[in-house]
Amino acid sequence: MDLQTLMKEAVAEAAVKEISDGMIVGLGSGSTAALMIKNLALLINSGKLKNIQGVPTSFQSEVLALELGIPLVDLTSVSEIDLAIDGADEVDNNFQLIKGGGACHVREKLVATKANKLLIVVDETKLVDDLNKEFPLPVEVLPVAWKQVKDTIENMNAVSSLRMANKKAGPVVTDQGNLILDVLFKEGIRNPKIVESEINNLPGVLENGLFVDLTEKVLVGKIENNSPKVVSLCK
Ligand code: 5RP
Repeated sequence: MDLQTLMKEAVAEAAVKEISDGMIVGLGSGSTAALMIKNLALLINSGKLKNIQGVPTSFQSEVLALELGIPLVDLTSVSEIDLAIDGADEVDNNFQLIKGGGACHVREKLVATKANKLLIVVDETKLVDDLNKEFPLPVEVLPVAWKQVKDTIENMNAVSSLRMANKKAGPVVTDQGNLILDVLFKEGIRNPKIVESEINNLPGVLENGLFVDLTEKVLVGKIENNSPKVVSLCK
């Protein structure tokens, strides 16, 4: 198994220790969150955790949770979520995040903002000093608006590309039926709060992957002396 997967497994196993009986849990998306969902299913199916309800953040997490027998509840049917656990593509020193590598950031942000706590689980490759120097910011746009939004964003000192699908001709289509622009600001993102709202104010944009002031705890998987280790970072 490669080192990154070992780090992801370690952090996924640590994350489910934060779940207790009776909780409504936001189920994140991506490969690290999928490992967390598998660990959660093991605890539920062995009777170690009781009365858990999961709120999926994507088609991916919904299918996985259903297959593993995790009871699910709709985002619309809950007034609050006790704890959401999700991955991230970049985490800066102030715990601001870029998410949406899996094109799921719309529902991920809905779940995160309804959750009393958002626990982020990453391997150490996701920690950065400055956001968006390397990982492009995912922006979900209405299909009819993609070119207009792309042109507007490119006048904001950024480059962007329409995310294309694998094993399907044409673009990635999100769970909501929209498209994704991946945006790299030429100088990175220094003020995520301002950039988040500027992009979301463009006509045709549904949501972008900046998660600002949404988490106070990040579990980081590392490799030390050839073995995986988890470090908990708290604000
Ligand atoms: C999906 C996400 C994921 O949480 C993010 O892309 C991290 O994924 P992975 O754990 O596979 O690296 O935001 O939209």
